[in-house]
Amino acid sequence: MNFLSLLEAKRDGQNLGQSQITEIVQAYTNGEIPDYQMSSFLMAVYFQGMAAGETAALTLAVRDSGSTLRFPNDPRPIADKHSTGGVGDKVSLPLAPLLACLGFRVPMISGRGLGITGGTLDKLESIPGFRTALEPDKIIQQVQSIGCVICGQTADMVPADKSLYALRDVTGTVPSIPLITASILSKKLAENPQALILDVKFGTAAFMQTKERARALAESMVTLGHQCGVNTRALLTDMNVPLGRAAGNWLEVKESVECLENRGPADVHELVIECAAHLLVQTGRTSDIQEAQTQAEASLQSGEPRRKWDEMLRAQGADLAAFQQKLTLEETAPILLELCADKAGFVSQCDARIIGEVIRDLGGGRLTKETVINPAVGVDQLAKPGEPIQPGNVLARIHAATQAQAETARDRLQKAFQITNEPPSLAPLIQEVIE
Ligand code: URA
Repeated sequence: MNFLSLLEAKRDGQNLGQSQITEIVQAYTNGEIPDYQMSSFLMAVYFQGMAAGETAALTLAVRDSGSTLRFPNDPRPIADKHSTGGVGDKVSLPLAPLLACLGFRVPMISGRGLGITGGTLDKLESIPGFRTALEPDKIIQQVQSIGCVICGQTADMVPADKSLYALRDVTGTVPSIPLITASILSKKLAENPQALILDVKFGTAAFMQTKERARALAESMVTLGHQCGVNTRALLTDMNVPLGRAAGNWLEVKESVECLENRGPADVHELVIECAAHLLVQTGRTSDIQEAQTQAEASLQSGEPRRKWDEMLRAQGADLAAFQQKLTLEETAPILLELCADKAGFVSQCDARIIGEVIRDLGGGRLTKETVINPAVGVDQLAKPGEPIQPGNVLARIHAATQAQAETARDRLQKAFQITNEPPSLAPLIQEVIE
């Protein structure tokens, strides 16, 4: 392979063939292409884009840069969900056990948070004893026996994504739709799923801030998923407002349990049910979406997913007694401070970006990959748009490590809320389904 000529071809807007892309990824993974040349290639892709066939080749080459999960034949379909991330997005936590109860096998390989975006693994690690680093045979064994696992990528899964992402991060090429598509889907395809539901968020606290960019990413991922033989759908969901009433690692675990006990916030419930319902339809288990919603709802109401959650926790080393005890605590951070409304009206704004930034700066999120997070900090009791408010009502409750940090957070959070005389018009949470 003459890498330079391929690089020049891409730079000049030509499409590369499948074998050429595969060779590039293999050569880069083997250390035959240095970072500076690969950076130029990424920059060429950033500016020229990629044809659908090129993106597919890139995705599969990245997936095949390491080992994939191989499950035994079983009538239960393998399904998973991916979210592009946001503030308060804890949907994966209740969804995995619900899907297991609905007869799916769910190898949910998840990631950590960065910036204002929370990470599923960080949330789960606030559970005493819970292990997220599992060997491939343990992942397979747990999925086969109890139906679900939520864990991190194993050491030899998709190594090319790790190196390519690090390079994108320092070359300003992260926001390229074909590169994002390949990065997200290579990791999901390494689970060998039959169906995938993607939650692509847009809004102030989303990776894709506009609905148009989110739709373009969703369409790219749905097309590619189908090309790779995986029934893929995407939901375009609003991330201008946090999901649920709590954000911060432990507080989100608590709210996930509330969802599993059918006393959680309506928006989290809606998204969990909707993801499960689409997967039921996508895998042909149910023929129409209303019937699938009813089925998912009935399973959640039965309490079985709540018991499955405990089973998953036990299988991954959690100390269930300590976990139950921790759930009863009102506060796990040293300081609790309320932000209260000073006038009557309706909440018309609860800005997810400001709230995410405040939580990150309280120590609940990472500024760099090396940051050690504090799982106890965050906000709960969030007042959401449309709700009537009286002076003195709580708009948010802050969980902080120190009084000074709590007070700074309270001052900053003031700007996240707006109260108006008239109720605002509310946008639906799920705005489009892309099939
Ligand atoms: N998430 C990923 O896993 N990869 C990207 O490129 C962007 C978001």
